[in-house]
Amino acid sequence: MHLPSSSAFGKDFLWGVAVAAAQNEGAWNIDGRGSSIWDVFARRQGKIKGGAKPTENCDFYHRYKDDLMLVKALGFNVFRFSFSWSRIFPEGTGKVNKEGVAFYHRMIDECLQLGLTPFATLYHWDLPQALQKEGGWASVHMQKWFARYATFCAEEFGDKVKHWIILNEPMGFTSLGYMLGKHAPGKTGLEHFFPAIHNAVIAQAEGGRIVRKHVPKAIIGTSFSCSEVMPYSNKREDVEAAKRLDILLNRLFIEPTLGRNYPNEDFPLIDKLHLKTKAWRYTERMQFDFDFIGLQNYFSVTVKHNALIPYIQASEVTAKTRKVPHTSLGWEINPDSFYRLLKRYWNYGGVKSIIVSENGACFKDTLKNGSVHDQERIDYFKQYLAAVYKAKQEGVKINGYLAWTLMDNFEWSEGFNARFGLIHVDFNTQLRTIKDSGYWWRDFLL
Ligand code: NOJ
Repeated sequence: MHLPSSSAFGKDFLWGVAVAAAQNEGAWNIDGRGSSIWDVFARRQGKIKGGAKPTENCDFYHRYKDDLMLVKALGFNVFRFSFSWSRIFPEGTGKVNKEGVAFYHRMIDECLQLGLTPFATLYHWDLPQALQKEGGWASVHMQKWFARYATFCAEEFGDKVKHWIILNEPMGFTSLGYMLGKHAPGKTGLEHFFPAIHNAVIAQAEGGRIVRKHVPKAIIGTSFSCSEVMPYSNKREDVEAAKRLDILLNRLFIEPTLGRNYPNEDFPLIDKLHLKTKAWRYTERMQFDFDFIGLQNYFSVTVKHNALIPYIQASEVTAKTRKVPHTSLGWEINPDSFYRLLKRYWNYGGVKSIIVSENGACFKDTLKNGSVHDQERIDYFKQYLAAVYKAKQEGVKINGYLAWTLMDNFEWSEGFNARFGLIHVDFNTQLRTIKDSGYWWRDFLL
């Protein structure tokens, strides 16, 4: 696949970087911010590698001006960030924290002044702890809480922010946080997972309707993680295993959003379980006519049948075992698979346009004499951008690409050692160093 110059993507193409409040802001206990589920989860022994806490992070809360100048200097025209719900509503609902709101105004104003398009995510995984105490995403009250929060943000920031993402990777936070217990709030079991899925699907669509109502000319999307799932062999049981995982990873959220039901019928086991728990039933409220879907791809997976794994009966054959290229987290690098996914999602009826709302890679970077030579990351971006270009040339309406991420930050349960940034951060001194990949982007864009 071939990567042309950035101008070949079209003059209105959105080129951006993405960050998230819990991963970047720091300032977790000042100016009236309430606790989020990540503040609490990270304090639990053994939950985060290296015992890291998301306390200071990159201190974006205080350094946003300099950091936004770097976004501009690297040639991007879009800045994607998320609102921290507990900075705005410390208790999740009820009283608004004026200082938190003022921070987002300052930061958004700075974007606008620099000529960066602010691109806001309403929910990027940091639920207020006060709401988790009431059950969080598994609670029936979630709809009400989320609607209040979304309405406030849309009314407050809607005259400045026109690009909105309602949820960030709902499959990510429901499965890791409410089924596998690897992310906050650390819950496990289908009794949490199923209601969390359903509440997220509805909140996502209702959030879309709320932003539509309050923000004139809004461009509204929501973001899905996606990963091609391939069978290890063409044995029937491996093929079936891949199909099951594919339903979870790629279909469970988008299909109800597009106005279909959940893909229960293709997954009899899930169907049986959900009927037993009555966790969800079809409602038109699950559907919303999004202007774009945000796709976020980090790896493809290869699986084989494994009867010992509950429900899904599939286990991964890692990239390392198969000796194929992978990042330092073991995630398979496969731009062809990304190209196929872009085409596949476009071919779902009802998708109006696609924005690659995150894509990037983690490598073991070394800072030496003021430089980080991260050639692997440059190669990664080149290949993935070429995949985007090819799909676009073949008619897939892709309107933007947002790189993950501006700077090294708090990588959830991986802590601070999994570095994805275009800019290196020394977490002791907060010193920023532009990596070679950052300079590559500048040369590509400017
Ligand atoms: C997707 C998530 O949205 C983001 O928060 C995370 O850092 C990246 N994946 C990399 O794991």
